[in-house]
Amino acid sequence: MEQKGLSEASDLTSAVHYLNKCFTLSTSDLVQISKEFQRAMTEGLFENKGPLKMLPSFLTTPTGKEKGQFLSVDFGGTNVRVLLLELHGCGKLTLKRWKSMPLRDRNGSYDYVSEKATGAELFDFIASQIENLIIADEVYSLGHTFSFPTRQTNINKAELINWTKEIKTRSVEGRDINGLLTEALHKRGLHNVKPVAIINDTVGTLLAAAYCDPYADIGSICGTGHNSCYIEPNPPNSYHSQIINMESGNFDRLSFNIYDDMLDRASAKPGKQRLEKMVAGHYIGELMRLIICDLIEKKLLFPDKIASISDFSLRKPYCLNAKDISFIMNDNTPNLTKLHSWVAKNWGIKDSSYKELSTLKSIASLVMKRSSRLVVSSYLGVLHHIDSSLSRKHTIAIDGSLYEKMPGYANSIRSALDEVLGGKANQVSLKLTKDGSGQGAAIAAAIAGTFVK
Ligand code: BGC
Repeated sequence: MEQKGLSEASDLTSAVHYLNKCFTLSTSDLVQISKEFQRAMTEGLFENKGPLKMLPSFLTTPTGKEKGQFLSVDFGGTNVRVLLLELHGCGKLTLKRWKSMPLRDRNGSYDYVSEKATGAELFDFIASQIENLIIADEVYSLGHTFSFPTRQTNINKAELINWTKEIKTRSVEGRDINGLLTEALHKRGLHNVKPVAIINDTVGTLLAAAYCDPYADIGSICGTGHNSCYIEPNPPNSYHSQIINMESGNFDRLSFNIYDDMLDRASAKPGKQRLEKMVAGHYIGELMRLIICDLIEKKLLFPDKIASISDFSLRKPYCLNAKDISFIMNDNTPNLTKLHSWVAKNWGIKDSSYKELSTLKSIASLVMKRSSRLVVSSYLGVLHHIDSSLSRKHTIAIDGSLYEKMPGYANSIRSALDEVLGGKANQVSLKLTKDGSGQGAAIAAAIAGTFVK
């Protein structure tokens, strides 16, 4: 991709044309990326190299007979949720109580995800949320969904390899996560809460779907972060199939445009999580912000309305988010009046033109569409790896705010799959698995209980 592209654009129309070229993936691009992805899966699994970590979960799919009451902790990076669930078997469960708290207070009174916080403080906060939900003299088995790359040695022991999603809490990388949680529980005298399982959120999503659907064999998160897992029929060092957390957000055999590179250079971990930085909710707003700022600097967008980018509210990194992208794409009024008022209110530009507003819409939809098509390339890589002729049915269980809420996202995933798979596309179902992380943790705790007995 020529970096000079946008500088050569003489007006907004040619700029949008250039951006189209930067962000559009053709059918053959999808196939090419899926092949690279599949190759990376094999390298990660059998040679321990390449961008995909291919982490064993020590779990296979549930039988559907798992029953009982379990506590779940769902730690994803934005909020921590604690849930008390009753599993009834055959895909049925009841949510008895739950509580959710942000890990960073909006008004700045606490922040457990910045470098100022330590692991001990973070896990004490989580233990305090558990304390608020439980009854003191009952005993609870706890499943923990921890949505980061971990090196697992058994169903209950996982060390954080590295933080992702820009989290920076100190003294957690390299540590045993349920060990930290147990220490924090014990400090509060909560010896009645027993962590028995730890899983990734993709694994939780797959477990929750597979609890009632025998075809579920891929789990994926398209939310603040991005990642997928699947059931590997022939894992190295095991005779049994096993769910493998691919940490696919770290896939990097892709072609990056100047905005991808700008975002990566300024991120907490340059060079890491390159697919996630093109796909996930935490990043796509920032990608759009970088594009808009570039257009403004080159006097292609709002030339007579903004004197200098340094006075403009959008100069602040990460001030545009995935919800904003959804809003921008979702204005279907003939004159884009909703977007007009939004731009006036949020950016202080009162006289934006129709052309400028429709350019914003086009950028939002380009970024959204590329995200969904990249995700599909990774699904195609997995499908080809487990069933190259698509001879059986597969369900891809998906959770996350992009898939659930972003206008057009789920449809774009479906149509990209149809576009590549043609007549075989009906072998693959997509299933929104809401709250799979919380439910999956309870199912994992139930499975861990069967191991112990
Ligand atoms: C993490 C994954 C997680 C994904 C979705 C990524 O940043 O590395 O472990 O599954 O986000 O939450």
